[in-house]
Amino acid sequence: MSHIVILTGAGISAESGLGTFRDKDGLWTKYDLNEVATPEGFARNPDLVHEFYNARRANCQNAQPNAAHTALAHLQSTYSGRVTIITQNVDDLHERGGASDVIHMHGELFGALCAACDHRWPAPFEMLPADACPACRAAATRPDIVWFGEMPYRMDEIYQHLSGADLFVAIGTSGNVYPAAGFVADARAVGVETLELNLEPSAVAGTFDAARFGPATDVVPLWVTEVLQQS
Ligand code: OAD
Repeated sequence: MSHIVILTGAGISAESGLGTFRDKDGLWTKYDLNEVATPEGFARNPDLVHEFYNARRANCQNAQPNAAHTALAHLQSTYSGRVTIITQNVDDLHERGGASDVIHMHGELFGALCAACDHRWPAPFEMLPADACPACRAAATRPDIVWFGEMPYRMDEIYQHLSGADLFVAIGTSGNVYPAAGFVADARAVGVETLELNLEPSAVAGTFDAARFGPATDVVPLWVTEVLQQS
C-alpha cells in the first residue's frame, strides 16, 4: 500500500482569502511576529495577541475551503493507499473541505489552551485576557497556537509518517520555518520521493525531486487527478 504524506502551508489557504505570512502584504509585513507570535510577546501584551488571533479567527470563519482543500480531501477518501495531511495552518479549511485526521502541527485557531494548567477547550469567538480556564479558573487563557520558541505538536507521529512514506508533497509553504522546512530533507534521507507544489520556488526548492508551480487551486486538483488516474 502506498503512503502519501502531504505538508501544507499558508499558500493553500491564500485563495480562500486568508493572508500568507511572508508574501508581499503578508501578515509578517504588518505585524511584528515577536509581539504576536511568541510567549514573550503574549506576556508583554496579551490584549494585542488576543486581538490578532481574534481577527484571524473571524477571517477564517468568513472564509470557505477552496478547490485545493477539496481536492486533497477527495484524494484522501478515494486513493487506494494512505494519505496523511500535516498542516502548518491554524485554520480549519482542510476539515471543512472534507479532510479527516489532519495533523495541525502549529495548533488551531479554534482551540483555547490554559497557560497555567494545559487544559484545552473550544475557543470562544473572542478571547480576552480576563477569560478564566474552565478547569483551574486561572485567567491564563491563550489561543492553542504553537508560537515561535515552542515545540510543534505531534512531532514523533509526523516523523513516523515521513519515514514510512512513499511520496512526500509540500504545498504552499515558503520553507522558512523549521522543523517543517526540514521535512523534505528528512524524507529524502530515507529514500522517499519528494514533490513541491507552490506558487513559486520555496527556500528549500533545491531539495525536492520535482516541482510544479502555480496557484494551489490549479496545481493541486491537477496533481490529484493524475495520482488517482495512475493508481
Ligand atoms: P509563508 O507565508 O511563509 O509562505 C507562503 C507560501 O505560499 C509561499 O511559498 C508562497 O509562494 C505560497 N503561495 C502564496 N499564494 C499561493 C497560492 N495561491 N497557491 C500556492 N502557493 C501560494 O507561509 P508558511 O510557509 O505556511 O507559523 O509559514 C510557515 C509558518 O510561519 C506558519 O505556520 C506560521 C508562520 O510564522 C506560526 O505562526 C508559528
